[in-house]
Amino acid sequence: MPDTFRDRIAAYTERVEERLDAALPQPSTDPRRLHEAMRYAVLNGGKRVRPLLVYAAGECLGVDAALLDAPAVAIELIHAFSLVHDDLPAMDDDDLRRGKPTVHVKYDEATAILAADALQPLAFAVLSQQQAIPAAVRIGLVRLIANACGSTGMTGGQSIDLAAEGNSMSAEALELMYALKTGALIHAAVMSACLLREDVSAADTRAIDAFGHAIGVAFQIKDDILDIEGETHVIGKQAGADERLGKATYPGLFGLDRSRRRCDELLDGALQHLERFGDEATPLKWLARFIVERGQ
Ligand code: IPE
Ligand code: IPE
Ligand code: MG
Ligand code: MG
Ligand code: MG
Repeated sequence: MPDTFRDRIAAYTERVEERLDAALPQPSTDPRRLHEAMRYAVLNGGKRVRPLLVYAAGECLGVDAALLDAPAVAIELIHAFSLVHDDLPAMDDDDLRRGKPTVHVKYDEATAILAADALQPLAFAVLSQQQAIPAAVRIGLVRLIANACGSTGMTGGQSIDLAAEGNSMSAEALELMYALKTGALIHAAVMSACLLREDVSAADTRAIDAFGHAIGVAFQIKDDILDIEGETHVIGKQAGADERLGKATYPGLFGLDRSRRRCDELLDGALQHLERFGDEATPLKWLARFIVERGQ
C-alpha cells in the first residue's frame, strides 16, 4: 500500500473515532452505567471497516467527506449494537470481543441488551440531525440503513444463522444468510455514498451495488476462515467458537480450500465492478483486498 494511502486510511480512522466519541453520550450523564456500556461497546478498538468503506466509496464518487461522517458513524453504531447482541448468551455466548470482555461480561446481560437497544436509535438520530445533507437525502439514508439493519437485512440474517445451527445448507442458502447478517450493513456503507451523490448514474450505482454485495459475502467467509485458522489473541475473539456452536459456515460445510477460492472469486468480481471508476477507486480496491487478506 502506498504511504499516501496508508496515511489516508489512518486519517479516516481517526476522523470516525472522533465523531463516534462525539456522538455517544458522556459517561458522566445519567444513567451512567448505561452510557458507560454504550461507549465501551463502540470505543473499544474495532477495525472500522464499514466507516472506511463509506469514506472510500465517497472518494470513488467524488462526495465531500464532511457529508460522509453521518452514515459512517450511524453504520458503525448499528454494527456495534449487532455485536453486543451477537455475543449475548442467548446468541453466540461469547466472552471476548476486540480482545476485551464482551459487554454483558464487563457489565451484565440487562445492561448489554439496553446499551445495544440505545445504540440503534442513536444511529438514526445522528443521520437525521446532519443539516449539511438535504432533508430528502437524509430520509433516503435513514431508509437505506433501516432496511439493512432490519428483518430483511442484518437482523433477519442473524435469525437465519441461529436457526441454522447444527444444520447443513446449500452454498446458495448460506451465501444468502451471509448477505443478510453481514453483507447488508457493508452494502449499505458503500450505497450511502451513491445516495449522497445525487447525480450518480444508474450504471455507477449498479457497479457499487454489485461491489457491496460481493465484498459483504466475502467479509463473512473470511470471518469464518479466521475463526478456524486465527489465534484468539490475534483475532480478539475466541477462536473455534463456530465449531463449538455447530454454526453453519462456509469452511465448516465446504472446507477451507473452497472457502478461500470463493473469497478470491468474490474479490475478483468486486474489483472488476470498480474498473469503470479509474484511480478514484484505489482506496475502495485496497479495502476490498484488505477484507479478504486480513489476519483479524
Ligand atoms: C465482526 O465484524 C462481525 C461480523 C460481521 C463478521 P468486524 O470484523 O468488522 O468486527 P470489528 O468491528 O472489527 O471488531
Ligand atoms: C456476526 O457473525 C454477524 C453479525 C451481524 C454481528 P459472527 O457471529 O460470525 O461474528 P463474530 O465472529 O462473533 O464477530
Ligand atoms: Mg453470530
Ligand atoms: Mg458471533
Ligand atoms: Mg464469526
